[in-house]
Amino acid sequence: MPYVVTEPCINCKYTNCAAVCPVDAFREGPNFLAIDPNECIDCDACVTECPVEAIYPDDEVPSEWESYIALNERLAEAWADHVINETKDSLPSADEWASKTGKLGDLKEEW
Ligand code: SF4
Ligand code: F3S
Repeated sequence: MPYVVTEPCINCKYTNCAAVCPVDAFREGPNFLAIDPNECIDCDACVTECPVEAIYPDDEVPSEWESYIALNERLAEAWADHVINETKDSLPSADEWASKTGKLGDLKEEW
């Protein structure tokens, strides 16, 4: 039951989550983080750290964001060299993007 980062993270990337993960399961993309399902130990620590409530256990992901389960797995592999385990500055327009919906088309996969 790995945890999954969902749409609210896109174009926010507050990164508070990555600093608390005991197994360094977070991988960084240009405007989104993904959790590597092969690393996550389901400790639940990251969930309350995210100011936009982007993180869910995979069996509690809201139905409209179920595609993010496979997306985290795929992006964690693509971004395997981009381990993030500390907090960085959020993206410059994070607070504006925090309340937006329908952001999947804005996801950047390539560094
Ligand atoms: Fe890391 Fe725990 Fe979050 Fe999994 S649930 S990504 S182990 S902090
Ligand atoms: Fe994203 Fe929330 Fe972490 S916005 S980077 S999942 S703290």
